[in-house]
Amino acid sequence: MHFVTLFFAAQLAAASSFWYENIVHNGISPTIPNGHNWTVFRNVKEFGAKGDGVTDDTAAIQAAISTGDSTGRRDSPHFGTTGQPAMVYLPSGTYLLTSAIRSAVGTVLMGDPTDRPTIKAASNFTGNYLVIGRGNRHAGLIGFYYGVKNLVLDTTGVPNHNITLLDWGVSQNNLLSNVKFNMTHGATGHVGIGMPQICSSLIMNDLQFYGGGIGVLVTSTQYHLKSLFFDGVKTAVKLARIVQGTGQGLEFRNCNVGVDATGGGSGMFSLIDSTATNTTTLVLADELSTGNRSASSGFLVLENLIVDATVGATLKTASQTILTGSIPPNKTWIRGNIYHPDKSFSRSPGVLLNTTRPAALINHSTHAYHTVVPPTYADVPLSSVLNVKSHPEYPVHGDGIHDDTASLQSIISSPSSRDKLLYFPHGVYLLTSTLSIPPSTHLIGEAWTQLSASGSFFSDPANPKPMIQVGKPGEIGTAQLSDFILTVADILPGAVLIEVNMKGPKPGDVGFFNTHFRIGGARGSKLHGRCRSKRPADCLAARLMVHLREGSSSYWENSWGWTADHDLDLAVDGELGLEHNVLYQMNIHNARNVFVGLQQGETPYWQGPENTLLAPEPWGKYLIKSDPDFAWCSPEDEMCRMGLYQVITNSSDINIYSSGFWNFVAGSNREMCTSDCQHNAVLYENNSRLFVYGLSTINNKNLVIERAGGEQATTVAASRVENSGSGIGGFNNAIVAAYLRQSS
Ligand SMILES: *[C@@H]1O[C@H](CO)[C@@H](O)[C@H](O)[C@H]1NC(C)=O
Ligand SMILES: *[C@@H]1O[C@H](CO)[C@@H](O)[C@H](O)[C@H]1NC(C)=O
Ligand SMILES: *[C@@H]1O[C@H](CO)[C@@H](O)[C@H](O)[C@H]1NC(C)=O
Ligand SMILES: *[C@@H]1O[C@H](CO)[C@@H](O)[C@H](O)[C@H]1NC(C)=O
Ligand SMILES: *[C@@H]1O[C@H](CO)[C@@H](O)[C@H](O)[C@H]1NC(C)=O
Ligand SMILES: *[C@@H]1O[C@H](CO)[C@@H](O)[C@H](O)[C@H]1NC(C)=O
Ligand SMILES: *[C@@H]1O[C@H](CO)[C@@H](O)[C@H](O)[C@H]1NC(C)=O
Ligand SMILES: *[C@@H]1O[C@H](CO)[C@@H](O)[C@H](O)[C@H]1NC(C)=O
Ligand SMILES: *[C@@H]1O[C@H](CO)[C@@H](O)[C@H](O)[C@H]1NC(C)=O
Ligand SMILES: *[C@@H]1O[C@H](CO)[C@@H](O)[C@H](O)[C@H]1NC(C)=O
Ligand SMILES: *[C@@H]1O[C@H](CO)[C@@H](O)[C@H](O)[C@H]1NC(C)=O
Repeated sequence: MHFVTLFFAAQLAAASSFWYENIVHNGISPTIPNGHNWTVFRNVKEFGAKGDGVTDDTAAIQAAISTGDSTGRRDSPHFGTTGQPAMVYLPSGTYLLTSAIRSAVGTVLMGDPTDRPTIKAASNFTGNYLVIGRGNRHAGLIGFYYGVKNLVLDTTGVPNHNITLLDWGVSQNNLLSNVKFNMTHGATGHVGIGMPQICSSLIMNDLQFYGGGIGVLVTSTQYHLKSLFFDGVKTAVKLARIVQGTGQGLEFRNCNVGVDATGGGSGMFSLIDSTATNTTTLVLADELSTGNRSASSGFLVLENLIVDATVGATLKTASQTILTGSIPPNKTWIRGNIYHPDKSFSRSPGVLLNTTRPAALINHSTHAYHTVVPPTYADVPLSSVLNVKSHPEYPVHGDGIHDDTASLQSIISSPSSRDKLLYFPHGVYLLTSTLSIPPSTHLIGEAWTQLSASGSFFSDPANPKPMIQVGKPGEIGTAQLSDFILTVADILPGAVLIEVNMKGPKPGDVGFFNTHFRIGGARGSKLHGRCRSKRPADCLAARLMVHLREGSSSYWENSWGWTADHDLDLAVDGELGLEHNVLYQMNIHNARNVFVGLQQGETPYWQGPENTLLAPEPWGKYLIKSDPDFAWCSPEDEMCRMGLYQVITNSSDINIYSSGFWNFVAGSNREMCTSDCQHNAVLYENNSRLFVYGLSTINNKNLVIERAGGEQATTVAASRVENSGSGIGGFNNAIVAAYLRQSS
């Protein structure tokens, strides 16, 4: 199988200049039997697809997705979640489908970015979905490891069908980027993206929608919608059910409605840095119930919106036009519960406040936050790509057995690697000491290549060491990582997975894209299946996922960090492992100039009622100054001594547009929990110019606690009772539209 792959790849070499189509593909699946023979790269043309716009390519593309090895197909259960990586690659062309293709766990459907291929519904297409972006077994809340990028999906051949172009019912560790959705103009039965399952994804970015009835139909938890373009879509974004989300850099042309938040299903939405032209209504919303603090839904935050004279209303309800015209820079229009700088509270039906954005983070001509398109490396010539497993001098294995540290360091440090693209074919690359990344380094993985810390170098919790060190202190330059998972191969209480010191001259130069953290929880790690039965105190699996150090400046897009998740490769999916981080999920300390589009967080399932290992334990002996010590909690208070979702101290110029902090499972018995599952969500202390919008919690008693600088005691600044929500999703939720008490 492997030989065949290489042979055909060579035959097809002339078709495109795209390096990935032409390079040697020697990725493996290290954790399954005969995984060295596993085919990671699958060019659909090798499976018989023609891409000629005439032939029915349904079966061929499906075969490229579903083919496993001699032991079974990829839609059978025995490869686990992580054992069957596949890059299903579509060269440029038009691929006709007569029925849906369905992805399988561990699959990236990827087209040639130099000329995105089209997947097109034939006129005799049957079914309600064109591409089902998830597998039949791993969907919804356990829908991990799916990708779709560099494609055009096209339903213009079936103008009268009710059809959704992409079923995106997936959750964490997924990727949806650089896809065009081409629907028939005026075809109201066409929907670009839907999510028929309950799911929990994070970001959709850099997508274009033409025609159709709805661009993105949101029916689940949270989203960061970044850089989406809509032209001639009747309703560009329909928020049918969302707890909180952010729309950033949305561009609406010739639409009827930009964002439709009516119907009672939208908890809170921030729309920023967006433009509209020839669009009847930019935002359509329900009336806000006034004077009732216990009905938090329909909250809105609008900032830096540019509409021209052809736009009928910027914000409208069924009965009235509330806003017309643009929302200028340095102002924020807020509807909902507001905690003001003077410590007063208001439930505002809509107010325009003076606010600021960190000058270092904005484009001074558009006033928008800097964003970048995740690199596709479309224009990199093959001669500028180095496959780390094909190096003539330094053997690299990526097999989860050999130590690859020395060879990888030699390759990365070599002057001839500067400004090359270093391609890591799928595998598990064991690192037994720090791998240093100098300036002008670009690393790309494949279907989430794993970098895995191993060995005694990372074992001392009192002396933590980075697995990947991006730059030395003071260094300025470019370093990018795309399409990786960082993990640990064992219990390593002294491991810091990434430390960043480097500062990028431009936004995105020091950038992490589709790069995730999973501590244990899968085959290939000695933690798999082991930490469930162990006491958490015996499972100090890693010290820290990411450390952004003094002087560094970096850009992160689409990153999940999770600890010893569901043991993904054991037979029963959805069974709980240890989850999430003990002390905090994100800690911003002594920092300046931070933008957060969306943060989702959960605390460890074992913390909470009847747990005896109270935070900061089991890390109490090793706390450093920036760590929360939980000294504000009484010693026995197991509901207070739980990991915080967000801590911000001694910092300034921080703007956060939505956060969702969830607790469903709590206590040593790990039972589902439906009301007061945790006391405190976030701690803010001694900050200035801190703007927190769309802070939302589920099953937490207090949203914000504050502490005066240098003090031990905390006070409750915002509680669930004051902000309790609409019960979207049947949960005990609470939402604050804006927390501005530390904004001056
Ligand atoms: C794996 O592939 C190699 C050639 O790359 C072949 O010699 C070997 O027989 C294959 N093993 C199995 C179990 O298929
Ligand atoms: C449907 O269309 C495809 C592609 O044009 C064609 O190959 C196939 O024969 C058609 N099927 C039927 C039942 O008409
Ligand atoms: C599409 O759905 C609408 C209702 O949502 C229905 O009225 C219409 O008949 C459907 N059209 C087709 C072709 O199934
Ligand atoms: C949509 O598809 C039709 C037919 O495949 C094509 O003519 C048109 O140019 C496409 N539109 C866009 C915006 O790509
Ligand atoms: C404005 O958008 C509508 C669709 O909503 C379209 O029919 C019309 O042609 C557009 N007008 C201009 C001037 O582009
Ligand atoms: C406030 O909202 C809650 C939840 O929607 C509702 O049950 C309650 O009746 C409302 N109270 C008033 C005074 O409107
Ligand atoms: C916005 O405020 C910043 C300072 O916070 C200032 O530099 C900038 O000129 C202001 N922009 C506008 C358009 O007023
Ligand atoms: C808001 O800023 C404007 C200048 O852009 C200023 O005229 C106005 O007084 C400010 N409002 C408040 C309440 O500070
Ligand atoms: C600022 O935005 C403009 C308009 O989109 C763009 O041309 C320019 O490159 C941007 N500047 C920077 C520094 O990103
Ligand atoms: C904030 O900085 C001051 C002065 O450096 C220090 O005393 C204080 O402990 C810091 N606060 C926190 C929470 O680290
Ligand atoms: C508050 O933070 C500033 C730095 O932003 C620091 O200089 C000051 O000492 C801190 N104060 C306290 C009481 O922690």
